This record gives sequence, C-alpha cells and structure tokens, in this order.
Amino acid sequence: MSIPIITFDGPSGSGKGTIAIMLAKKLNYLYLDSGALYRSVALKIYNEYGDVENKGLDYEKIIESMNIEFRYDSKNDIKIFIDKKECTKQIRDENIASLASKIAKIIRVRESIEKFQKNYVNPPGLVADGRDLGSIVFKNAQIKFFLTASIEKRAERRLKQLKDSGISANLPDLKNKLLERDEMDMNRSISPLVKPTDAIEIDTTKLNIIEVFEKVSMEVNNKLNK
Ligand code: C5P
Repeated sequence: MSIPIITFDGPSGSGKGTIAIMLAKKLNYLYLDSGALYRSVALKIYNEYGDVENKGLDYEKIIESMNIEFRYDSKNDIKIFIDKKECTKQIRDENIASLASKIAKIIRVRESIEKFQKNYVNPPGLVADGRDLGSIVFKNAQIKFFLTASIEKRAERRLKQLKDSGISANLPDLKNKLLERDEMDMNRSISPLVKPTDAIEIDTTKLNIIEVFEKVSMEVNNKLNK
C-alpha cells in the first residue's frame, strides 16, 4: 500500500503551516515545511555568495551538499538546522522569505528541492505544506487542502508569529511584503501557486485555529476511513 500523503497549499499567513503541524501530530505522521526548505536554501546562498540570483551558481551542487534537518525540541516545537547549525529564527525573517521567493522561480532550484521533498516521504505518512505540493510535487496525494484568507488577516497573523518569535516587524510593511511575494509566487512560469483542481478549499479569514482544524479533521476522517 502506498504511504498516505496530505498536502496543504496556499499563500503565506493562510494558516496552512499551523494546521499541517497539528494534523501531523494528531496522526503521528511526518511533517514537511517546504517553505522552510526554500528559506534555508536562500539563507545559505545569501550568506555564502551574497547574490541569490546568479546564473554562475551551481544550485544543484549547493542544495545537494546541504544538510537540512527538522528537529523537535523538548516542547515538541520544530527547529531547523542547516549544516548542523540552528537557523530557525534567521529563516523566519521576512527579508529571507523574499529571497526564497526569488530562488523559487529558478527551475534548477525547484528540481533539487523536489528531490529532497520526495525522499522525505516515509511511513506511516506525511503531512506537507507549501505552494505546489498538491499541484506538482505530490500530485497523487490522498488528500489535498488549499487554504486562503484576506491579505489583512494574513498580515495580522504573520505579524503575531514574528513578534512571538522575537522578530520585529510592522503591519503596513509586512502587508506590502506579503503582496509582493503573492505576486511572485502566483505569476511565475514554473510551479506557480494555484489551487489544485482536486483540493478542498477553506477560507480561514473568519475562522480561528480550532474551527479550521475541526473542518480539516472531518475531511481527513471521511477520506482516510473510506
Ligand atoms: O511558506 P513560506 O512563507 O515559508 O515560503 C517562503 C517562500 O518559498 C514562498 O513565498 C515561495 O516563494 C517559496 N515556496 C515555493 N514552493 C513551496 C514552498 C515555498 O515556491 N512549495
């Protein structure tokens, strides 16, 4: 039997990461934050080469020789390690997110990250979130969700997340940065952010986390127990 995969796609701040982690913990599945992969690659290239969009860079080699790990700490929170060094806070910076969107347009980068994502699939199952998981990377996923929310709500949520992790930001600036990223992610020629045709769409603007999780859990129970 194939390993079950559940995907969550959507723009930044739609709630997909929070809900995907909750679901992975409930089902005891592995969790893959694909945005963290793009952010980690952007951080490494920025730190080592400065310019992330340089045709001379051997992206495949850089990504294949990188060691990216997701480790759970004592509070069961996920920490990201790049080449054995913790980078959880650095990759959350909105400037790194913008660089991630820039490298996310490069086909060689996407192909190398796609390999990493596919190798991550292991029993008993995987919950993964990103932009192109249900549409491209895991086309055959058993269950696909597409989460959306208004730009105001998404910026508010992102501001809270950043503040909670000790990163300073302001709402108007953050809103502009999210809109810029939406624009890049939705209009790029390869793997743009789109709703997979067979995905369940949830607008989370007026819902709290518990309400979204209830809706998601109901769909998952129905589909996995069929
Ligand atoms: O989800 P997160 O905000 O961490 O993603 C950072 C950026 O990485 C996105 O804005 C997008 O450009 C890129 N990304 C992507 N495909 C994915 C996940 C993230 O292009 N599957």
